[in-house]
Amino acid sequence: MMMRTDYSIIRLEDYRPTPYAIPRLAMTFELHPEKTCVRNEMHIEPKESAGEKPALILNGEGLKLLSVELNGSLLLSDDYHVDDKHLTIPHPPEQAFTLTITTEINPTANTRLEGLYRTSNTYCTQCEAEGFRRITYFYDRPDCLSVYDVRLEAPVTGNPHLLSNGNLIDSGALTEKRDGSDWHFAQWHDPHPKPAYLFACVAGDLARIEDSFTTSSGREVNLHIYVEHGKEDRVSYAMDALKRSMRWDEEVYGREYDLDLFQIVAVSDFNMGAMENKGLNIFNDKYVLAKPDTATDTDYALIEAIIAHEYFHNWTGNRITCRDWFQLCLKEGLTVFRDQEFSSDMRSRAVKRIEDTRQLRSRQFPEDGGPLAHPVRPESYSEINNFYTATVYEKGAELCRMIKAILGRDAFSNGLDLYFERHDGEAATIEDFLKAFEDASGKDLSQFSLWYSQAGTPDVAVTSTYNAKHKELTLAVEQSCPATPGQPTKRAMHIPVRFGLIGKNGQEVSFTNTRGGDIDLHGMEGILHIRERKQSFVLEGVESPALPSLLRGFSAPVRLRSNLTDDDILHLMQHDSDSFNRWEASQYLLIRTLIRKSEQDNPIEVNQRDMTLIEALGKVIFDPQLDMAFRAEILAIPSETDIAREIGRNVDPDAIHHGRETFRQSLAERLQTQLRKLYHSLQQHGPYQPDAEGSGRRALRNRVLDLLVMLPDKSGIELAQIQFNTATNMTDRFAALASLTHHGKDAAKPLLTSFYEQFKDDALVIDKWLSLQATSPKSDCLATVQSLLDHPSFSLNNPNRTRALIGAFAMSNACQFNRADGKGYRLVADIILELDDKNPQTAARLLNNFRSWRVLEEGRQAKARTELERIATANPLSKDVADIVNRCLH
Ligand code: PHE
Ligand code: ZN
Repeated sequence: MMMRTDYSIIRLEDYRPTPYAIPRLAMTFELHPEKTCVRNEMHIEPKESAGEKPALILNGEGLKLLSVELNGSLLLSDDYHVDDKHLTIPHPPEQAFTLTITTEINPTANTRLEGLYRTSNTYCTQCEAEGFRRITYFYDRPDCLSVYDVRLEAPVTGNPHLLSNGNLIDSGALTEKRDGSDWHFAQWHDPHPKPAYLFACVAGDLARIEDSFTTSSGREVNLHIYVEHGKEDRVSYAMDALKRSMRWDEEVYGREYDLDLFQIVAVSDFNMGAMENKGLNIFNDKYVLAKPDTATDTDYALIEAIIAHEYFHNWTGNRITCRDWFQLCLKEGLTVFRDQEFSSDMRSRAVKRIEDTRQLRSRQFPEDGGPLAHPVRPESYSEINNFYTATVYEKGAELCRMIKAILGRDAFSNGLDLYFERHDGEAATIEDFLKAFEDASGKDLSQFSLWYSQAGTPDVAVTSTYNAKHKELTLAVEQSCPATPGQPTKRAMHIPVRFGLIGKNGQEVSFTNTRGGDIDLHGMEGILHIRERKQSFVLEGVESPALPSLLRGFSAPVRLRSNLTDDDILHLMQHDSDSFNRWEASQYLLIRTLIRKSEQDNPIEVNQRDMTLIEALGKVIFDPQLDMAFRAEILAIPSETDIAREIGRNVDPDAIHHGRETFRQSLAERLQTQLRKLYHSLQQHGPYQPDAEGSGRRALRNRVLDLLVMLPDKSGIELAQIQFNTATNMTDRFAALASLTHHGKDAAKPLLTSFYEQFKDDALVIDKWLSLQATSPKSDCLATVQSLLDHPSFSLNNPNRTRALIGAFAMSNACQFNRADGKGYRLVADIILELDDKNPQTAARLLNNFRSWRVLEEGRQAKARTELERIATANPLSKDVADIVNRCLH
């Protein structure tokens, strides 16, 4: 296929340090909606190692260059040259010099939302990964660390707040009017050297909510959260989450905040979730704003996690940054790991682990098993924006978790301390990170490091046999890893498998000694260190026959197979002392059942096997001793995408949908009496609290409701209508609406209308309304989505709206996106092409939803291919979209 776009590949092996350092720079922004002038005065020093007078080559894109001055004198255009990506000075001075570059940019025309742009009349920036080059010419790469002095100038009207990184040094009025209006300025100094991707500035008319935090060493930090006027009443939860994050990082990691001010700005146009700019985090307002009648429990949990994530970056990302973008997981994997641990401490650890595992399997496994598979640390890329992936983030976090499992808690914590001690203020690599753990623990992580370089989800097969005579249990293990793009064969990895033994009566069974491989023992539990392709571990002193409960807490991101029978797994589901593995057992059995249902001509028939599973599920769901959030997780039966992934080839989404719906209906019918009782017993008393207890109860109750709505006698529909009308919070109101909409009940229509009327001025709630309609499995969904494209509340210019409607349709509506007639693909492809020119990053993200097209049955594959080829041959096409589409088709 012809490739029209610049598709040059950047490789890890080609990394070279820059010949010059830029230890400090002073920037002045004269803010204007269409003509912002940026003066950038850089202090530049040749590095000693640089050798003979190398050229200075700075990055810059989409800039209008006004002037270049060297040590205060204007340079003539013969002394430098400029192309569409660089400014080059072939012969810079041999001694340190000052280079002052003045550029003009147009924030209003910036629809890519990279660099300086406008959102609701506010100026804001997004510089990760390569946005700074859209503001000025610079070494726009993470290994160039500089101290920033930033002066912002803007009209007072419309811009009362002028913000940047670090501390506010000075501010005041400008003496002369400009364009007839009064201007003012603010001068910021950030004492911490940082790479350009962490630069930020914001100017606009926003509301400020203030609080403060006293650090463990007694310093007072001012906390400011900026939101649009009128949204002040939605900030308290984010502020509280911020203070809890700051405390937690001190208590658990010994990391204190390092400036006098910490600012968060919430904006409504943002390509991602949030950004960790030093001292000035910028957030998608979806992850800041919450109050009980507009945000759901899920929103609250996400806000807590993302506020924590960005805050934790202050140490893991900002104080220690990445040498180059190949090392992205150095900051992201570690910071996701840290935010997951934080949420576990704030809520239920077991439930958090279940949620994260579910996410990993539904988002990362398909990536790792398809055409976009890449190692946690990729070795090449053409567009770095496309590597902010589930693999880098979520699998990256799993690697940190495995390091902790391998080293043990104390050595892990010593290793991290050593990492901070050695690399504070530096741009580091994965090698540096692993070396710190090796040096702190004395353990060899060289085989483990393959997890960073080998893509694909390893398979682990375990055969367990009990020898009564010798009282030994043997675990014969075999590992393999499927081929991925560019990696046909793989080496054996170091895989830590946490396990325990469960006896016939459900009790834990101990073992004394082990042979055949490396096993750590912790009481009744152990960790198998699998290192060979094939290996047998023998557990001695096992007094009675026992079943192994393997991969507890999902101790490694692998697919596990074993010779345990369905009855064995059922036994574990009922008795495992590890609650994660009880959930895991339920998932295994459910998936097997749902696959079987999808293959049956008449899935309605309930056989003995189904009944046994339904009864066993009932025992857990109705067990009042168990955590409600945990019971809700058991009741959240595997999604259609989960089932498709397990089937793995020749997938028919309609059959999966039909099989799953029939099974859920049987479940509802068989357990209806108890489900009804449970539903009523979970009624909320007292005010709404978004905490673990409250959200667990609502999750369980709403999952029960979602089953009751399927009952043919319509009693569930009535319950949902009542719940919708009497709900005192968004979680319950939205859940009732979702159940009715997704089950195609006529009762949904008037409620959707009244919901819209009630919330039409609230963009974040309207996003929920859009997503809900875009995820209906009914065949009229396509027409609904098409008509919503023209709805006054919808706009392709806003990434949240686009994701809410088109993203939800493509990602969470397996049977309608994958319609047999190909119209789902066509709709999404049309949008991608339309969006590509405005916002390539968001367009490329939408395109990711095509990545599993090859697992579908032939007819759908052909339809998907048609659309992919249509996208691939479109001209012009952004590098972002070209990269993804070419890899998908490859
Ligand atoms: N670095 C951000 C985070 O993980 C994500 C991000 C990437 C935001 C690129 C914007 C652009 O917290
Ligand atoms: Zn991050």
